[in-house]
Amino acid sequence: MKNNLKELSFKRGDVVRVKCVDFTFDGQGLAKHLNRVIFVPSLLIGEEAEVEILYRKKDYDIGKITKIITFSPFRINPLCKCATACGGCSFQNLDYQKELEIKKNLAINTLKTVGKISFKFFSPKIIGMDDPIYYRNKMQIPFGYDKQHRLVYGLYKYKSHDIVPINECIISSKEHVSILANIKKLMLEMKIKAYDEDLEKGVLRHVLIRVGKASKEVMVVLIVNEVNFKNKKNFVNELVKLNPEITTVIYNYNLRKTNVILGEKEEVAYGNGYIYDYLLGVKFKISSKSFYQVNHDQCEKLYSLAIQKAMLTKEDDVLDLYCGIGTIGLIAAKYAKKVQGIEIVKEAIIDAKENAKINNINNINFLVGDAKDVLLKKSYDVIFLDPPRKGLDLSLIKQIMNSHPKKIVYVSCDVGTLARDLTYLTKNYNIDSIDFVDMFPRTFHVETVVLLSNRTAK
Ligand SMILES: C[S@@+](CC[C@H](N)C(=O)[O-])C[C@H]1O[C@@H](n2cnc3c(N)ncnc32)[C@H](O)[C@@H]1O
Repeated sequence: MKNNLKELSFKRGDVVRVKCVDFTFDGQGLAKHLNRVIFVPSLLIGEEAEVEILYRKKDYDIGKITKIITFSPFRINPLCKCATACGGCSFQNLDYQKELEIKKNLAINTLKTVGKISFKFFSPKIIGMDDPIYYRNKMQIPFGYDKQHRLVYGLYKYKSHDIVPINECIISSKEHVSILANIKKLMLEMKIKAYDEDLEKGVLRHVLIRVGKASKEVMVVLIVNEVNFKNKKNFVNELVKLNPEITTVIYNYNLRKTNVILGEKEEVAYGNGYIYDYLLGVKFKISSKSFYQVNHDQCEKLYSLAIQKAMLTKEDDVLDLYCGIGTIGLIAAKYAKKVQGIEIVKEAIIDAKENAKINNINNINFLVGDAKDVLLKKSYDVIFLDPPRKGLDLSLIKQIMNSHPKKIVYVSCDVGTLARDLTYLTKNYNIDSIDFVDMFPRTFHVETVVLLSNRTAK
């Protein structure tokens, strides 16, 4: 009763002294004060701080550090100047080795609590990055206006549509810096307006830049709200003069009032409309709408781990479900009898088919389709699953179980949905190993590779 009275006695705007006792799944500090949980971005475990209460919710509060009283020995000075403002990274202020340990423990915790998984018979490793900066080969940068109506580009502030202006993002590849600065310069010179979400007017909404780490090819996609606008052609001509490293420019038309970044229709404005890149010796064609892992070097480690876990033989009939442009399947094909890739995005399958051709890989086939309809027709020895964050449909899990593959290698970018899916899969499958690959250093995300083997196989 006493505590409840005290709880009521602090309110929004108050500054309270707290100690951080844990991290939330998304890398915020979890502190406690008078039985209330307070989420505090950038506060590290063990640190005591004065915190201003910004929002009061029913079950928790959200605070902002005003003064750190005791510092964690793992606190470092962020390399990024906008580390606290932009909210894209959770761990810029934490020693990287400690970050890896924390991410591994957070993921294990979710798998234990949500997935009821026992870690008695295996111990997961986490594969980190040698130099965890400048790794993102793809960025989607919004353009807009600040409160003084000045043209800005940058990253959205955490959970908002306010643009935090950036010159350089420390986790994205260096090519972005000059291309974005030149786009802004040309927009001002040519009087091309950024899209204003409130007024639903203006031209440039987002710029998507994709860089082939190994090929050095650069794609720029200009996402615009008008099909015809003044200086449209000139804009691209001048941009590629200023940045000759750009190998292709695409106009993507998104004329809807929506948060979805890319529109349906596209027009190639310069070059051939795609780039190539290389992973583990295989060449990949990538078009603007196709999924391609954002961290090249860690992606090679991820695929090597997933394929090594599968221990493929020349007898194996393999399914690469959610195959994107065919990356896992094409790399795995030389160890297997044959591979089938399935993917819902038609453009990605066009790339995948071309990728099989340019690499002379003949024991692979690709189909456009929804994952949940595939196993109704055929069964496989080994299945690679690499779904988007929402994980697997229950109907697909049932089909997988009914088709009795010997092994499943589940590659997941969301440990929460993975844990949920494993609660079903483990009814017939043993978990032989779980490991993590840090594809997204400095953010709370982590990639997980799970090897499952069939308990019921004859
Ligand atoms: C995490 S990505 C993995 C792609 C690929 N394995 C890679 O590493 O590049 C997930 C892929 O699943 C595709 N996808 C999403 N929903 C799908 C569905 N219902 N059926 C088939 N593919 C789907 C996405 O388009 C995306 O290419």
